[in-house]
Amino acid sequence: MSDREYRTVKSSQTVLKELMVPSYANFGGKVHGGVILSLMDKIAYTCAASHVKGYCVTASVDSVNFLNPVEVGELLTLSASVNYVGNSSLEIGIKVISEDFRLGIVKHTNTSYFTMVAMDEESRKPVPVPGLILEDEREIKRFIEGKIRKQLKSEHRSEMKKIRGNLDLIREINALDGENCRLYQS
Ligand SMILES: CC(C)(COP(=O)(O)OP(=O)(O)OC[C@H]1O[C@@H](n2cnc3c(N)ncnc32)[C@H](O)[C@@H]1OP(=O)(O)O)[C@@H](O)C(=O)NCCC(=O)NCCS
Repeated sequence: MSDREYRTVKSSQTVLKELMVPSYANFGGKVHGGVILSLMDKIAYTCAASHVKGYCVTASVDSVNFLNPVEVGELLTLSASVNYVGNSSLEIGIKVISEDFRLGIVKHTNTSYFTMVAMDEESRKPVPVPGLILEDEREIKRFIEGKIRKQLKSEHRSEMKKIRGNLDLIREINALDGENCRLYQS
C-alpha cells in the first residue's frame, strides 16, 4: 500500500485581496496586465506551497485571457485552489474578480491555470507532492479536467518540438502570403 500523504482541497484554498492603486496604472489609465499576473503568481505559489508544505516553482501558465479591464480604485479578489496533482506537479486554478464599490459592480477578470512543481531546495530536483482528497463532485470534475489539460499540454509541447525540428522554411515562407508581415529585402 502507498504511504503517500493526502490533503483536502480546502486545506490550501487561498484568497488574496488587493486594492488597485494609481501606481498600478498603465498609460491608458487601466491597471497593467503585468500587475495582475504578478498577483496570480503570488497566490499560485501560496496555494501550492500550502498543499506541499514546501518549496515550489512555477513551471507554466495557461493562456490568460483578460475578459474585462481593471480600473484604478477597484478591489481585486483572487481565489486559488489545487485542482489536480500529478507526481511532482500541481495545477492551481485561479479566479480573479474586480469590484467597484461605488457603482456596486463586480466583474470577472479572468480564470487561469498555473502549473507549479514541488522542488527539493538543495538538489533543485522535483519531489513527490501529497495526493488530493476530493470531497465533492465539483472537486472531482476539476481534478479530471486538470488531468486532461496536463495531457493536452504535454502532447502540444511534443508536437511543437517535432514541428520546430522538421520546419521546411521555404514552404512556410511561401505560405506567409496573406499574413500581416513583410519580408525584409536589402
Ligand atoms: C519545471 C521544472 C522543475 C521541470 O523540470 P524537469 O526536469 O522537466 O522535470 P520532470 O520532467 O521530472 O517533470 C516534473 C514535473 O513537471 C511537469 N512539467 C515539466 N515541464 C512542464 C511544463 N513546461 N509545463 C507544465 N508542467 C511541466 C511534468 O509534467 C512533471 O509533472 P509530474 O511529476 O506531476 O508528472 C524545470 O523545468 C524548472 O526548474 N524550470 C524553472 C522553473 C522556475 O524557475 N520558475 C520560475 C521562473 S522565474
